[in-house]
Amino acid sequence: MPKIKIDGKEYFAAEGETILQTAQRNGIYIPRYCYHPALSVAGNCRMCLVEIEKMPKLQIACSTLAAEGMSVLTQSEKVKKARKDVLEFLLINHPVDCPICDQAGECYLQDYYMDYGLHKSRVEIKDKIRREKRIQIGDYLILDRERCILCTRCVRFCEEVTKTEELFVAQRGDHSYIDIKPNEKLNNPYSMNIADICPVGAFTSADFRFRKRVWFLKTANSVCLGCATGCSIKVQYDDNTVYRILPNPNEETNTWICDAGRMTYKELYAEKRLRHCVINGNFFQPKNIIPVFEYLKNRDFSKSALILSPYLSLEDNLALYYFASKTLKIENIFVPEIKEGKISDGILINTDKAPNSKGLELMKKAFSIKTVSDKEIEKIDFIITCFKQSRFLKEKKEGLYFSLEENDLNGALIAMKSYFETPGTFVNYKGKISLTSPAVSNLNKLSVWETVKELSALFSSYLPFEGFEDLRKIAEKEILGKRI
Ligand code: SF4
Ligand code: SF4
Ligand code: FES
Repeated sequence: MPKIKIDGKEYFAAEGETILQTAQRNGIYIPRYCYHPALSVAGNCRMCLVEIEKMPKLQIACSTLAAEGMSVLTQSEKVKKARKDVLEFLLINHPVDCPICDQAGECYLQDYYMDYGLHKSRVEIKDKIRREKRIQIGDYLILDRERCILCTRCVRFCEEVTKTEELFVAQRGDHSYIDIKPNEKLNNPYSMNIADICPVGAFTSADFRFRKRVWFLKTANSVCLGCATGCSIKVQYDDNTVYRILPNPNEETNTWICDAGRMTYKELYAEKRLRHCVINGNFFQPKNIIPVFEYLKNRDFSKSALILSPYLSLEDNLALYYFASKTLKIENIFVPEIKEGKISDGILINTDKAPNSKGLELMKKAFSIKTVSDKEIEKIDFIITCFKQSRFLKEKKEGLYFSLEENDLNGALIAMKSYFETPGTFVNYKGKISLTSPAVSNLNKLSVWETVKELSALFSSYLPFEGFEDLRKIAEKEILGKRI
C-alpha cells in the first residue's frame, strides 16, 4: 500500500488508486468535470490539476496513480491559479444563462466559479460561439449545446453502461459539440442518468426541468418498487409534492436507475388514480369504511380466498393475513406463484416486475401458506387481494380489491395509499431488505393495514397490531428473523 502525503498529511493509498480517489476517500475534495467514479477516466477537462513535488508541471489527479512517497498539494497558489485558468477556458463560449438554466443550484460550473473563478469574461457576449439550445434529443432529455463543456461523461455513459453508443463528439477544437447518430433518439432505458451525470446544464431532464428550483427540494431515501431489483432511490419533494427521483448509489444494488423506475412517482398524480372507494358502482369517500363493512358483514366467507401480493409490503400482507384469518375466518389463504427474479439486461432491469416476491416467499415459508392454483380459484366465489395481483387471475371474481388505479373489477375497490405516502418493507430478489420512506402525506386515504385494522374493529375483532411499528416487529421476528 503506497503511502502518500496530501496537503502535508500522510495517507495510505489502495493499490491502483489515483490521487483523486485517495483524496476523496479521505475527505479531500478535488474539483472535477470529466471524472465520474462509475465511468472510465477521460482526463480531458483539466479541472483536477494538482501539484506533485519534484514534478515540474501540474498533473491531473483523476488519472495519476498514487505512488509511494508522493507529496501532493491540492490547494497551493499554483493549483488555484490553474483552476481559475481552466474555468476561464471552459467558460469562454459559455452563454452564462444561469438565471434561466435548470441546473442552477447543482451546477459544477457555478460552484467552481464561486470557489476558484470569479473572473470577468474577456470575451464579449457577441463574440461567443452560439450553438443550438433546447434540442429534444430523447423523450426524457433536452440538450443545450451552448452549455456543454465537452467532458464526455454522456458519451462514455452510452458507450460503457448502456452500450447503446448513441452519442459522439462531432468536429474539432472549439467547433466541437455533442451529437447523436443520424436518425436516432436518446431513448435507451437508462437515458435520464445522463441528466444526473452531466455536470452542467447541457443535459437536463424533460420531466423535471423548470418545475422546481433544486434548493427547495427535500429528500427521502427510499426504494424503487418498479421491479424486484429494488434500487435505492432519493425521492425529492417539496410542498407535499414529489418532483423527481434520483439514484441513491450503493454497492449492494445500484449506481444508476432505469427511466421506468424514475417515473414510478407518476402513480401519485395519474389521471386514473383511484380517488374514491367504489362498491358495486357506488362511490364513497376513501376513508369511509362503513360501506365496506356493510358490504362484508353478512357475507359467507366459506368460499372466499385471500391472495397475498408481491406488490404489497410485508406489513400490508401481514395485516391482510390477520384480517382474513382472524376477522373473516377465511381458510383459503394463498400466495401467487413466485418466479425467481434475475437481471434481464446485464444492468438493473429485472425479469420480475413485482418488488416483494422474495419477501412473500419468506412469508409463505414462515406461515406455511400454499401457492395458489387455477383449480383452487375455480372453487372460490370471493377474492381479497390487490388490483395488480388480480391481473394474473384467469377469471375475474367479485372481491375486495385494494388499488391505486381505477379499474372495472367487480365488488369493493378500496383506494389505497401509494408507498410514496406510507412506509413498507420490501425484500429484493437478492434478499436485501429495504423500507420505503414516505415523501408525501395523503390525508384522504388509508394504507391497506389501516383499512383492515379499522374494518376488524367494526367486526369487533382485534388484530395483533396497533400500528405500523407493531407489524414491522412481527415481520422482523416471524418472517425476516433479524432486525430491519
Ligand atoms: S453534454 Fe454534459 S455530460 Fe455531455 S459532454 Fe457536455 S457537459 Fe459533459
Ligand atoms: S431497475 Fe427496477 S428497481 Fe431499479 S430503478 Fe428500474 S424499475 Fe426501479
Ligand atoms: S477530472 Fe481530471 S481531467 Fe477532468
